[in-house]
This record gives sequence, structure tokens and C-alpha cells, in this order.
Amino acid sequence: MRIGVPLETVAGETRVAVTPETAKKLAAQGHEVQVQARAGVAASVTDAAYEAVGAQIVDRAAAFAAELVLKVQRPRADELALMKPGSVLVGMLNPFDKAGLQAMATAGLTAFALEAAPRTTRAQSMDVLSSQANIAGYKAVTMAADRYQKFFPMLMTAAGTVKAARMVILGVGVAGLQAIATAKRMGATIEASDVRPSVKEQVESLGAKFIDVPYETAEEKEAAEGVGGYARPMPQSWLDRQKVEVAKRVALADVVISTALIPGRAAPVLITEEMVKAMKSGSVIVDIAAGKGPNGRDGNCPLTEAGKTVTRHGVVIVGETNLPALLAADASALYARNVLDFLKLVTTKDARFEMPANDDIVDACLMTHGGEVKRA
Ligand code: NAI
Repeated sequence: MRIGVPLETVAGETRVAVTPETAKKLAAQGHEVQVQARAGVAASVTDAAYEAVGAQIVDRAAAFAAELVLKVQRPRADELALMKPGSVLVGMLNPFDKAGLQAMATAGLTAFALEAAPRTTRAQSMDVLSSQANIAGYKAVTMAADRYQKFFPMLMTAAGTVKAARMVILGVGVAGLQAIATAKRMGATIEASDVRPSVKEQVESLGAKFIDVPYETAEEKEAAEGVGGYARPMPQSWLDRQKVEVAKRVALADVVISTALIPGRAAPVLITEEMVKAMKSGSVIVDIAAGKGPNGRDGNCPLTEAGKTVTRHGVVIVGETNLPALLAADASALYARNVLDFLKLVTTKDARFEMPANDDIVDACLMTHGGEVKRA
């Protein structure tokens, strides 16, 4: 197939869906890979690096006019207009954005959103949420370290002793676990909270302390089990008790990293303005849920401003909405491998597109086909 790899155009998007490593493999499978000029530059990949593995450098129109278009972000309206009806699109297309899906259906695309892949063992190698959340967790810690005016590790120097930074991680999925692992390597003391009980052991195995909020009713226990590995909204009774426990830790914290998300819903409010007021001056919050909170600009903290770093009540609040894009080379490398693995499910040995019958991963990722939205 003719595969097009456009330059990403969303502000701040530095990633690219195909790297020279995966372009080489796609070419070896018999595909013709056409990369838009400078598509990889922000991820440290030159046009020459693509050419060296047999890819062709093309213009924007050619990249979008391919039979199979590989993207990071959902195409904008002007980009959809360049795509051919019947062509196949693979990317992070936002399965919860109904209007966006309708636009892709109207454009006649067969569109696969990789974020919709199930959290199963077979889907692990194409799990873009995991590959990118892992990076977000790492980057959140390095950004916090950059903003925080003190050391993370405990140091004994001739000029006196420096105390280790206290860190609180809220939400311990893939990003939270990586944040704990990274902060631990840097010497911070870490406590973490999540609604899912299975997380406790993982938190402890990484050398952090789990903030225990016992379940008091059958309803709380059932909600905490979540669905498909994901969290569900917790009963208010449990959230109230969690708030009390979290508030105590946040007041003592030097750094808070919040990552709590509930798929398809607003991110829960976990760090209230009162809690921020109680924090020490110079403390740092990195809100990975920025832009996904109740008002669309906030995150797990109502004072977060998506896309900005602000100081409120003496606390620095980082609202970066695309942390993986700040580590563009590795984010692209991992994402491109996720894409390559997904393509194995929908392409034949002679490099043609073929929709498999009854494949749970393909079925879950298929968003639009034949002019219709398949899932919303
Ligand atoms: P996510 O990004 O959807 O959410 C982040 C975390 O926030 C989750 O751990 C969630 O429980 C937590 N959270 C939600 N509401 C909260 C609240 N009120 N207070 C505190 N924490 C709250 O989660 P992510 O990272 O996508 O992981 C989702 C699940 O998928 C996990 O169970 C993970 O272990 C599982 N997973 C399974 C894989 C596989 O088997 N192939 C691969 C990757 C993840």
C-alpha cells in the first residue's frame, strides 16, 4: 500500500507516526512509504534518515492522499479534505469526540483510533495509552524537578544537610507508576493514592507508601473494582474520606503529580483550592489531567490552566497538556512501534489492507467505516 506520513500540525505536537526504524520494516513488507518533508524534524529525525531506509519525501497533499495515512493526532478539517474517500487512517483519534468521528465518517475514511484498544495482553504491544502515559509520568517528574527550587534527594554536604523532597502522586495508572519509579530514582520520598485496590502492591513494590482509604460499603468496594482495568466514578462517601487523607499529605508535600482520569468523563477534582492554599510556598503541582477536568481547562486541580504554568497561592502549577510531545524522539519511537504492530492485524502478506473478521482489537479501534461512525 501507499502509506502517507504527514507532518503533525496541532500546536505543540512534535511526534511523528513513523520513524526510520518502522519505515524500514514497512518497506520490507512491500509498502511504499511516503513521508511529508520535515515530518520527523521535531522528533530529531531528518528527511535524509527516512530516505536512507527507502522512504520517499513528499509534499503535504501527497502524504494525505495515500491509501493508508498514519498520524499521531486526528486530522483537521483542511487535512481531511486532502484525504481520499475509502482510505484508511490510523492514529490517536479521540474515540470520545463525536463531532470528530462524524467528520471522519463524512470524509469516507476507515479510521482506527488506537486509544480504544482493549487493555489485554495481546494488545499490549499496540497500547498507545500505555506507551505515551509512561513518558508523561517520567516527564512530569523531570518538569517538577526543573521548577522546584530545592533538591529531590537527601544530601549531606559540608554546608549542611538537605532534606529529601516529599512527593504525592494522585492516580497510579501507567503514568503514576512511572512517576513513582522516576522520582524514587531521584531520591524523593513518595506517597500515592488511587481508587483501585490492586494498585497498593504495585506502589509498595516501587518503594512508595500507599495512602490507604478503606472501603466501608459494598457499593464503594464494587465501584473501586472499576471496569476493564479502568477506574469508575467513586461514591461521594469514599471521595470525602480520600480527600481528608490526601489533604493531610498534600499540605506537607513539596511536589504533587496528579494523573487521575476516568475514561469518557471529566477528571476527578482531587486537589482543591483549599489544599493548594495549605501548601508551602515554592511547592510544585504537575497536573497531567490538565485540560480534562470539569471545565475543560482545569484538571485534577481547579486552579490548573491547560497549556500554561501558573503560580497560585505561592504554588507553581504546571498544566502541560502534551507531556509525551516534550520527549518527542522516544515518544515517536514507541508510538511508531505501536502503529506498526497494529498494522499487522489489518494488512496481508502481500501488503494489502484487509479487515479481519472478529478481531477484538480491530473491532474496538474501528471508529468509522463506509461513511458511518461505528463507535462513539
Ligand atoms: P488512566 O490514565 O485511565 O487513569 C489514571 C489513574 O487514575 C488510574 O489508575 C485510575 O484508577 C486513577 N483514578 C481515577 N479516579 C481516581 C480518584 N478519584 N482518585 C485517585 N485515583 C484515581 O489509567 P491507565 O494508566 O490508562 O491504566 C488503566 C488500567 O489499565 C490500569 O488498571 C492498568 O493497570 C491497566 N493496564 C493494563 C494493560 C494490559 O493489561 N495490557 C496495559 C496498561 C494498563
